[in-house]
Order: sequence, then C-alpha cells, then structure tokens
Amino acid sequence: MSPVTTPWDIARLRADTPGCGRVVHLNNAGAALPPAIVTDTVVEHLRLEEQIGGYEAHAAAQERMEAVYDSVARLVGSRPDQVALVESATEGWSRAFQAVHFTRGFRPGDRLLASGAEYASNVLPLLQVASRTGAKVEFIPDDASGCVDVAAFTSMLDSDVALVAITHCPSQNGLVNDVAGIGAALRGSDAWYLVDACQSAGQLPLDTSAIGADFVSATGRKFLRGPRGTGFLYASERATTELEPFPLDLHSATWESGGYTIAAGARRFEYWERSYAALLGLGAAVDYALDLGIDAIAARIGELAAHARESLSAIDGVIVRDRGVARSGIVTFTHDGVPAPELVRQITAAGINVSLSTPDYARRDFDAHGITSQVRVSPHAYNTTEEIDKLAEVVANAR
Ligand SMILES: Cc1ncc(COP(=O)(O)O)c(C=O)c1O
Repeated sequence: MSPVTTPWDIARLRADTPGCGRVVHLNNAGAALPPAIVTDTVVEHLRLEEQIGGYEAHAAAQERMEAVYDSVARLVGSRPDQVALVESATEGWSRAFQAVHFTRGFRPGDRLLASGAEYASNVLPLLQVASRTGAKVEFIPDDASGCVDVAAFTSMLDSDVALVAITHCPSQNGLVNDVAGIGAALRGSDAWYLVDACQSAGQLPLDTSAIGADFVSATGRKFLRGPRGTGFLYASERATTELEPFPLDLHSATWESGGYTIAAGARRFEYWERSYAALLGLGAAVDYALDLGIDAIAARIGELAAHARESLSAIDGVIVRDRGVARSGIVTFTHDGVPAPELVRQITAAGINVSLSTPDYARRDFDAHGITSQVRVSPHAYNTTEEIDKLAEVVANAR
C-alpha cells in the first residue's frame, strides 16, 4: 500500500493536538480532538470573563468576534454578512427551516424532498410539518452508487416542490452527495434548498456559490475541530431578503415604536445569548484549518479513509458498508461474527475511539439496506496509518 502523503509535518500536527498523546481518536465524525489553539482561545476568553465580566469581555473581543464571521465566510466562499454563528448544525438547520415554515408556510400538496440518507434531525421536522399540513415528504431515489440520483431528482421537480433537504456527507455511509449538481437542477425553481454540511465542513472544500443552496448548515466540533456548542449557518441573498425567522429576538430584530425591523443579513438567524468563548474557539479552529489548507486536509483524510477501507475489508468476516463514487472520511463496517456494539466495546477497550452507528440517526438509509448497527471510523489529518493498522489488528482479533 502506498504511504499517505502530506504537505505538512504530521509530527507537528500531532504536537498541536494534545489528545493524540492519549488516545487513538478515530471518531472525528462524532467530535474531533481540537488543536491546543482552540482550547486556549476558549479558556483565555473565559478567564477574561472571570476577570472583567461577561459583557465587558464581549465588548473587548468585538473585533475578534467579527473576524470569526470573516473566517467562516472564507471557509465557505461567501460574504461575512451571509454567515450566522449558532450553537450547532441542528440549530442552524432549524432556524432556516422555521423561517421557511413561518414565511412561506406549507400547504396540502406541497412536496418536501429529502435525500434517502438524510440525517434524522432534518427529517423529523419535515414529518411534523407533513402530519399537520398535508404536505408530503418524499425521499429522492439513490443512484447505483448510493448517492442522490440527480437525474431522478430532476425528473421529480415540479411547482409543488416546496423544499429540498440534502445532507452533503451522510454520517453513516461514507458517500459524498453532489450538492452542486442538485443546486444546478434547482435553478429557476422556487423550492427552498437546505444543505446539511455538518460532516463536510472542515473535511472537504465548501463553495456556497457553486452549491447554489439557500442555506448551508454545519457544526463546529466535527471535522472543523472546534468546541462543542458551536456551528454556523450560511444564508443566501434570497434567504435574507425573502425570509423572516421565527421567533425573533432582540438580536435578530429591533423593536421599534411602531413595530419591528429584522436585522440585515444572516444575523437575523442568530439569537442574542451565545457562548462568545466557544465562538472565538470556532474562529480559531476555522483559521487553523484554513492555514493547513482544506484541499490538503481533504486529500489526507481521503487517503487515511481509503487505507482503513482496504485494511478492514481484508479481514475475514468484515464487510465495509460505504457507498458512493466520491467517498468521505467516514468509514463504516460490520463483522459477520461480532455484533457492532460488541465490536465497538472491544475497540474502545483497546484505547481506540470509534462510534456505533444506528438507525436512530438515519432511519430511511438503514432500513433500505437492512443494517441494524455498524461501526463508524472517521480519521482526521492528524491520524496516522499506524493508528489505522492498530484498529485493523483489534478488529482482526475480535471475537
Ligand atoms: C449529517 C449530520 N447532520 C447534522 C448533525 C447534527 O449536528 P449537531 O449535533 O451539531 O446539531 C449531525 C451530527 O452528527 C450529522 O452527522
């Protein structure tokens, strides 16, 4: 097998990441090990709050907070005023969905299209709306590789399609959906297009102008390596001019004597109270990733994931479950002789962090493939081929 190549010094990357000395962390799709600069940034701001007060610390960090919007905008190829900083991918996605629900509303006959591998927290609100309004949830068929079938999707489009929800990299099947192809098919349609980039932000290049979505939501703690409790939402020009978030607060709008004015740009999707320490940490994480280069990170993760797929599939009884043509850094597998929960237990006992992937996260995808649980392995740039080999050895000896 060819060695994994990288433009940077992996020893430096690992030295930047204190957790590397303690565990083999192959659960970056859950929450990555942050580089020290991220934790230092959070703690430094918390210390400032301790010393001078939370509001005063916020005022002192105002310029650095603005720089976080600039950094996220660079990451996704947008303007800073198209970025909202939120607490999670779910919060970002929900704020977008609530705005469509409140402004446009859903009616009987409306069609809500979702990818077959869509994340549970994106499908549940669609099911809720459908059960109350008579709108209909439809899953877009997969193509032969397992990705959203763009041609089939195009043939489904009509004027009743009110909303399209696509997860860029599903959390459970290793594939990368063609979100730009879907965006291109939607050109000229009135449907609202929501892309969940929770697992792709920090892992793959994200170009919002190429994707053409109305919204792109993501979390801080996964491949971006930011703190827990952070995320962002990109909102298009159309979204920020046509949609009214619901409910508003005194940050997303101003209460005037005669009514209210909604904040300009994507900040209308934010609430006033947030952890500024965590958001500054998110900024540090984004800057760290941009300094390394997203293309280089993507290449390294891709090579490590390919190494994992190759090593695991060589083991008797192991079936790698990933689909798709373009693959993400998420590797999933089952073992004929050892149930996935027991396999995760044995891997964890060997000092390796992986996760158990179950239908609760993506019911339609698991049901369609008859899988009840599987092991998920998700390397990041700071991982090594030796760590993957150690995982493969534990799996090969699992009973
Ligand atoms: C594809 C996908 N979307 C959304 C989410 C939800 O992210 P958060 O927990 O930050 O809301 C996850 C979390 O695992 C995910 O994998």
